[in-house]
Amino acid sequence: MRVCRTLSCALRGSYALMSELEKSLNCARGETSPDGNFTLEFVECIADCGCGPVVHVDRSMHENVKPEDAAAFTQQLKATLTDPTYGQKTPVLGTPEWNG
Ligand code: FES
Repeated sequence: MRVCRTLSCALRGSYALMSELEKSLNCARGETSPDGNFTLEFVECIADCGCGPVVHVDRSMHENVKPEDAAAFTQQLKATLTDPTYGQKTPVLGTPEWNG
């Protein structure tokens, strides 16, 4: 799980988001979660600056992931671990799906 920390995303809360993700996944930045499913890291700009904070997971870009939504976001990602259609769904605007 790569969280952008460059200026646009940082100004929109990526550092606070990282802190909340660390709590939600029970692992520190640069480490892998105890269940072995997620590794958290900061990255530089991933070219989606207008929609930050941006999180890149596998082949999906997740936009506007706010720090206060970190727990729900990680819950959604954990649910995708057993979903064979993960990454193939069309995002629905106005829903809590972050898969943009
Ligand atoms: S600053 Fe985050 S995607 Fe560019």
